[in-house]
Amino acid sequence: MKNFTYEVPTKILFGKNRVTEISSEILRYGNKVLLAYGGGSIKQSGLYDTVVKVLEDGGIQFVELSGIQPNPRIESVREGIRLCRENDVQFILGVGGGSVIDCIKAISMGVDYKGDVWDFYIRKAKIDKVLPIGTVLTLAATGSEMNGGSVISNDETQEKRAAGDDSLRPRFSVLDPSYTFTVNKWQTAAGVVDVMSHIFEQYFTQDKGTFVQDAIAEGILKTCIHYGPVLLEEPDNYEARANMMWASSLALNGLTGTGKLFGDWATHMMEHEVSAIYDLTHGAGLAILFPVWMEYVLDETTAPKLAQYSRNVWGITATDDRQAAQEGIAQTRKFFTSLNMPASLGEVDIDGAHISTMSEGACKFGPLGMFKKLGKEDVSAILTKAL
Ligand code: NZQ
Ligand code: ZN
Repeated sequence: MKNFTYEVPTKILFGKNRVTEISSEILRYGNKVLLAYGGGSIKQSGLYDTVVKVLEDGGIQFVELSGIQPNPRIESVREGIRLCRENDVQFILGVGGGSVIDCIKAISMGVDYKGDVWDFYIRKAKIDKVLPIGTVLTLAATGSEMNGGSVISNDETQEKRAAGDDSLRPRFSVLDPSYTFTVNKWQTAAGVVDVMSHIFEQYFTQDKGTFVQDAIAEGILKTCIHYGPVLLEEPDNYEARANMMWASSLALNGLTGTGKLFGDWATHMMEHEVSAIYDLTHGAGLAILFPVWMEYVLDETTAPKLAQYSRNVWGITATDDRQAAQEGIAQTRKFFTSLNMPASLGEVDIDGAHISTMSEGACKFGPLGMFKKLGKEDVSAILTKAL
């Protein structure tokens, strides 16, 4: 196990009605707030009214940024920065899923920056001064509620890029599982796949001696496999929603990646290329690409870890590592399909027209992956197999 520092300052307010406690958390930083949200789900569910009342009762002034889209666009970020500057905003509150949270992180890093905020996403600028943020999570998937990452899309350049820093971890996040009752089946399933994928990205490394991290990771995967199907049948099952919500935060708050190399992340990079061009739901793209990636990287160096996954998570009994790995990959694909997630790009009407653009884009900053290094040709081969 490698040396590591683990510090997560995000205060988690987990459970029913915890949103009523946010005023005192916000007032530590000021009383001028940007309230950011998406396309209307929080208005339909009544959460918007609750949040507004809590802010008003707390004597907090706020301006609003609405309409943040899934795969959040850079235009919303620029608009949010303008609102923060014009209104001397001291704190940003995001109410929504990963897209809203990623957008407020981008605003947070951009308010004090003189240039264009996209510079952070193309590695032209380094994150320096940030505005504090807090979140009320409404969809269990990305872990953005407890990490410092942000992913933003730029339609002009057809790019979807990530930026991040520990300083961007939310100061608090409200995790009330009942807010996720209204998430539809497609987004719920995509969320389950995303959580599992975050575990995969950190689990599949060549590190040795990380038994505890692996055991936590395997436990989170089993949680997804256990509760994913329950959620599709019973969307308002509190226990299932609660377990998925906490799993989403734990899967990408740095915990399972401690003491190891950074992780693999090749599949995420490839998926971001696909959703940059086709605006595909992130988890759906991962459901297509992850099993293909697993098959592609399977060789004598990777078989032992893939076999460990297959045995510990799926109960595969094959003694030969390659055989066990293949059976575990087949189970993974079958599980994603059982959640009604697509298994090929063709199923979501994506053909091979942009494979070379996507392969170039994925490797813009160099080869991908740690478990096994992948160049442009490999990315192209994986995307072709995924058709
Ligand atoms: O916009 P509204 O009306 O809120 O509707 C949203 C949206 O249409 C809806 N939704 C959210 N909560 C709901 C709800 N509908 C009913 N009831 C609720 N309670 O769901 C749709 C999708 O929302 P979105 O926020 O886009 O989903 P998700 O949380 O999966 O976020 C996906 C984005 O996060 C990025 C992805 O690439 C994608 O852009 N990621 C961010 C990461 C991070 N910051 O760490 C890591 C991930 O790997 C990922 O890349
Ligand atoms: Zn993800």
